[in-house]
Amino acid sequence: MFFFVSFRMKRTTFLLVFAAALSCCWAQETGNEEVVEEEEHVELFTTPTTKMAAATSDFGYNLFRTLSSREAAANIFLSPISVSAALTQLSMGGSQRAQSQLYRALRYHTLQDPQLLNTLKDLLAAVKTSGKGLSTAARLYVARRLRLKQDFFKLVEQQYNVRPKALMGGAKDLKEINDWVSQQTGRKVQQFLSKPLPRTAGVNAVSASYFKGKWVTRFSQSGGLENFQVDGGAPVQIPMMQQDNYPVKMGVDSDLRCTIAQIQMQNDISMFVFLPEEVTTNTSLLEESLTAEFVQDLSMALQPAQVSLTLPVLRLSYSTDLLPLLGDLGLSEWLENPELEKVSNQPAKLTSVNHKVVMETAPEGNQYPSSPSTPSHLTYRVDRPFVYLIRDEPSGALLFIGKVVNPKDLTI
Ligand SMILES: *[C@@H]1O[C@H](CO)[C@@H](O)[C@H](O)[C@H]1NC(C)=O
Repeated sequence: MFFFVSFRMKRTTFLLVFAAALSCCWAQETGNEEVVEEEEHVELFTTPTTKMAAATSDFGYNLFRTLSSREAAANIFLSPISVSAALTQLSMGGSQRAQSQLYRALRYHTLQDPQLLNTLKDLLAAVKTSGKGLSTAARLYVARRLRLKQDFFKLVEQQYNVRPKALMGGAKDLKEINDWVSQQTGRKVQQFLSKPLPRTAGVNAVSASYFKGKWVTRFSQSGGLENFQVDGGAPVQIPMMQQDNYPVKMGVDSDLRCTIAQIQMQNDISMFVFLPEEVTTNTSLLEESLTAEFVQDLSMALQPAQVSLTLPVLRLSYSTDLLPLLGDLGLSEWLENPELEKVSNQPAKLTSVNHKVVMETAPEGNQYPSSPSTPSHLTYRVDRPFVYLIRDEPSGALLFIGKVVNPKDLTI
């Protein structure tokens, strides 16, 4: 531990306290900062697109917190921006009242953006730019029995280039949905549904993402089995990637009791790793502080360092139905009476919000770490439960968030 970042009540103020006694080469590299440095605050969320990015991220953090509190000791992964996309399509089918309830949960009520449907479209296009490694898909599937309004189908198609689909009911639906998701994600998200949709005639919101993390700096060693500590159990052996003198941005948050590293990926993507000091699956304190603003402030406060970096080789697949979580996001009243009057004249309910993500990281990168004159003695070893997120840097959009408690359970 070489310095501390502590976050005060107001998230925009940082105190960087350098533990002079502990720092060695690191302090020399970065000049002679004294004990306290007021962090320069860089406004990111000022344009319609970045404000939209902040809204989708804050929705994502809320979703993540809710899921994590229900599955406290489990691995969980989400790609919230694709869930935002699916629920936004759904909002287009609602009454004025339904729309404002959904907008509140999606954090759009803060935007004051009359063009927000277009802004979301632009943001999605920006984060799906090839090279960033993300593919996402979002679509509504609606029971044909509801006597559907064709205008709604047209409206969504014109806005998002994806036409909601009427379901016949039965086994064919499953194949139809799974084939579409697979095709939209370059065959990376397979078997989206493992069992048929509920028989209730309603609306199903489908969202899926595939992310292939591509580092800027490559890892020379990969695949070696190493111990990963597990809360309340014996360590498990998992493949890890390792590299000395790896350039990261880093800081210690003494309030949250974790060390944070930001690792650069290609095309302006970065991964933030939050590594608790102790072996614990209880990361609720950290989860509570996650907001778009907090992560942006963090990226400004973290300091460049070269470390001996050890990371699990992540290859994971995760799926869940998010419908039970929506009540905790302020939508319980809406779920009772969703007023999807533009979808159908009959009362239509939301019957599922299935979400599936697949993510991989490979050791390759497009450059080698430079060899410093004095080798770094700092290590950052991700060998116990941690939280991470993948962020698009220019927009600040959260693309992926996960909590790894036992990587042995992760499979593709
Ligand atoms: C998790 O930690 C928080 C504080 O860090 C504590 O308030 C809470 O009770 C803990 N939860 C469990 C299930 O231990």
